[in-house]
Amino acid sequence: MIHSSFLLPLAVAAVAQATAPHSDFKLTLGSISSTPAARRARVRGSTASLASNTRRDASTSEPLFDYFNGTDLQWYGDITVGTPPQNFTVVFDTGSFSLEVPGTACGAACANQHQFNSSASSTFIDFQSTSTITFGTGVGVDPVIGDNWQLVVDEVADTFSVAGLSISLGEFYLITNQTPTFLPDPFDGILGLSPESGDLFSAGGYPGIFGMLFVPESEGGAGELTIGGVDTTKFNGSLLYSPQVDEGNWQLASEGIFVNGKTASILQNNLTLIFDSGTSNMLFEQSIAEAIYGMISPDIAPNTDEPGTYGIACDLVSTLPAVIDITFAGISGQDVFNLTIPSSELSSGPFATKPELCQTLINVSDGYNLVGLSLLKHYYSAWDIDNQRIGFAPNGF
Ligand SMILES: *[C@@H]1O[C@H](CO)[C@@H](O)[C@H](O)[C@H]1NC(C)=O
Ligand SMILES: *[C@@H]1O[C@H](CO)[C@@H](O)[C@H](O)[C@H]1NC(C)=O
Ligand SMILES: *[C@@H]1O[C@H](CO)[C@@H](O)[C@H](O)[C@H]1NC(C)=O
Ligand SMILES: *[C@@H]1O[C@H](CO)[C@@H](O)[C@H](O)[C@H]1NC(C)=O
Ligand SMILES: *[C@@H]1O[C@H](CO)[C@@H](O)[C@H](O)[C@H]1NC(C)=O
Ligand SMILES: *[C@@H]1O[C@H](CO)[C@@H](O)[C@H](O)[C@H]1NC(C)=O
Ligand SMILES: *[C@@H]1O[C@H](CO)[C@@H](O)[C@H](O)[C@H]1NC(C)=O
Repeated sequence: MIHSSFLLPLAVAAVAQATAPHSDFKLTLGSISSTPAARRARVRGSTASLASNTRRDASTSEPLFDYFNGTDLQWYGDITVGTPPQNFTVVFDTGSFSLEVPGTACGAACANQHQFNSSASSTFIDFQSTSTITFGTGVGVDPVIGDNWQLVVDEVADTFSVAGLSISLGEFYLITNQTPTFLPDPFDGILGLSPESGDLFSAGGYPGIFGMLFVPESEGGAGELTIGGVDTTKFNGSLLYSPQVDEGNWQLASEGIFVNGKTASILQNNLTLIFDSGTSNMLFEQSIAEAIYGMISPDIAPNTDEPGTYGIACDLVSTLPAVIDITFAGISGQDVFNLTIPSSELSSGPFATKPELCQTLINVSDGYNLVGLSLLKHYYSAWDIDNQRIGFAPNGF
């Protein structure tokens, strides 16, 4: 397809076997505290000077900008890093738990990105620990070939701020080199908001919850991230919550998938689905992807040019109903509910190498199941770290 708009970091550190079982961006490095508990402890230690018992009453919000380039599946927003603050834009990624922004050492390789000048920050600390991150998919649908989406990073700490949330000496990663595939990005880096990021919120004095709204291009493209609460002006009715089924990742239990109101036995198994705001579309195991596609159209077939992708003749797309309902467990005492992906998400646009063929919304993954912005853009979502659950309400789009 021509232009996509997603970032799907497949965690790999310098130590190659650190690959995560799914798309999440996870650094696992021999030389630094690598377990979530150790990481939390370090964040906690470094923010101890804050009045962390002070809970704010009000939440704080900032706009999310739509990266529309043919597809409409990626949003990003502003943060600042350092003292005095330097400005950056990042993808707020529920599939990862660290911050990465380019540093001046990246030079020409990051020419389109803002680069953090650590010499200009009075609060900067350099741990001088270098590692390499290789990504499983990139921004855009250019195929992943070997290491063609890769960052070299250095572990550091400094003050950083998101909306009204300010973290004193939080740990993050400065990008010191990147493959040319990243150059066109309109955003600078990534900020992970995994279920393990609660300490960032408490260090800043906010409850552990954030709300996300992704507004499509056709509706103006102005989304919103809310820290420490949800913005009730952005949805009608109440949020329906489903409990998280994994401590480290935003994952919910699905009890079944329906395509145009029908289902199949393979789609009625319990599935664990990762919810990832850093990924554009959907990733399913092959048997599930093909069962869903089979119920939409026999003309959807793998595109062998880009393994893992499927496509259909673009002139057939508009005639095809392709409503996907996914049923989720409610929180205790509440009923199951559906989240619905409308037919308009079926095509992600034409493939660059075969412009008459349109890429369909599900890629085949290697043993995990994940939903990204094809679903999330149709809901206001509440990511409740304190209660380990995610809530949804239709956003009207
Ligand atoms: C849009 O996508 C095209 C094709 O992938 C790419 O060459 C171009 O740089 C992108 N434009 C922007 C503004 O990202
Ligand atoms: C950083 O962003 C703020 C808020 O948008 C703006 O006022 C300021 O001028 C920006 N600073 C730089 C150096 O661009
Ligand atoms: C970084 O900041 C230092 C100190 O303010 C300054 O001397 C230097 O020129 C800056 N470097 C770049 C690349 O902007
Ligand atoms: C789908 O597969 C293509 C080809 O490997 C890849 O470039 C793209 O990033 C993948 N998309 C997702 C969401 O995994
Ligand atoms: C979910 O959608 C399917 C198919 O449209 C429907 O049969 C089922 O009743 C829905 N479930 C809920 C809980 O709404
Ligand atoms: C799926 O999980 C639900 C809730 O835990 C359970 O009631 C149901 O029997 C399970 N279904 C299958 C097919 O395993
Ligand atoms: C909420 O309902 C009102 C009245 O029907 C409607 O105008 C508005 O667009 C709805 N908002 C959302 C976010 O769905």
